[in-house]
Amino acid sequence: MDNESARTQLIAQLRRTIEHIDAGTIPLVDDTMSIPVDRYQNQERWEEEIEKVFKTVPLMMGFSSELKEAGAYKAMDVCGMKFILTRGSDGELRGFVNMCSHRGAQLVEEGSGASRRFTCPYHAWNYDHDGALVGVTNRQDFGEVDTSCLGLTSLPVAEKCGLMWVVLDPNGSIDIDAHLGGYATMLDHFDFGSWNVVHQQEVPGPNWKLAYDGYLDFYHLPFLHRDTFGPDYPSRPIYDAWGPHQRMTAPYEALAKWADVPDDEVVLSEIDGGVWTIFPHVSIAGFPVGERGLMVSQLFPGDTPDTSKTIQNFIVTDEPTDELIALAAKHAEFFDHVVRNEDYYTGIRIGKNIASGAKSEFVFGRNEGGGQFFHTYLDSLLDT
Ligand code: FES
Ligand SMILES: [Fe+2]
Repeated sequence: MDNESARTQLIAQLRRTIEHIDAGTIPLVDDTMSIPVDRYQNQERWEEEIEKVFKTVPLMMGFSSELKEAGAYKAMDVCGMKFILTRGSDGELRGFVNMCSHRGAQLVEEGSGASRRFTCPYHAWNYDHDGALVGVTNRQDFGEVDTSCLGLTSLPVAEKCGLMWVVLDPNGSIDIDAHLGGYATMLDHFDFGSWNVVHQQEVPGPNWKLAYDGYLDFYHLPFLHRDTFGPDYPSRPIYDAWGPHQRMTAPYEALAKWADVPDDEVVLSEIDGGVWTIFPHVSIAGFPVGERGLMVSQLFPGDTPDTSKTIQNFIVTDEPTDELIALAAKHAEFFDHVVRNEDYYTGIRIGKNIASGAKSEFVFGRNEGGGQFFHTYLDSLLDT
């Protein structure tokens, strides 16, 4: 299946979903699964997750369209690694640790911008977009140094599917094709390279796995989100996986209209909904703006095991007019509320309950195959 086109795969999933609509069923995994609650916020395990997952696996750090012009840059802080993504004059994406070679100052503040050079705020050494040291202040006084050895430290980066990927380890390497496998075909069908980012915001959250559990969970929608968008949503998910990356959809009644429509007349953008995830930290879901909008959430561990931060990116296929940007911001306010005050509010309290020591295990149902799959896969990467 992985070798087939996105269209073929999406239509096969549609046909299977329609069978479930007719039968009133969803696919179930073989058994329930218990996992020790200690896995969530245990300090040692969390540190292992940072090292073996977040500092080893390619992470999705943004959209190629965010850095269109030469000299454009984006500076982020993820898992304590401060880094800069920048577009070189040759059009190539590069990544550097956001740290001056002189005595370690942070070169640029977190955020986006454009500049010909990076100038250190401490003693004003200058770097170009290839990371080369091109200016030493008061060079005549400084003494002999080999500037060719004093460039910025590179990080492994890649561009694929219109997205920017980084491995947060200067000594690491990146193999984005191996990481995405057949999922690249599915991501490619969105054509992210042609979308526009119209709004970004950050939401503080619980332990990253408690947050990720929620992104893989439709079971809770009509209940936890009863006061917002939930009542109309089904709580019975259907999961598909490509490697560790999962799509979650549901037997939405609206999909039944395609039952008698021949495959070549099915409109992909009407059947590719649900939630798409990228392991270990991205969730992609629709939001209703213009021709088409998506909220792409990047989830990162925080400074401690019981915290995380999520960057919500709102992207659209339309040209970003002022009106559309304002509308997106209004929807973004709603999603900040839902995630902060419903999902993460709940996750933070789960974290506190875990710390009470009252329970030793959580249980995932046969209808929660996505969560089961995520934890099983994560465990396979770790020793503890
Ligand atoms: S630390 Fe950057 S110029 Fe001194
Ligand atoms: Fe939720």
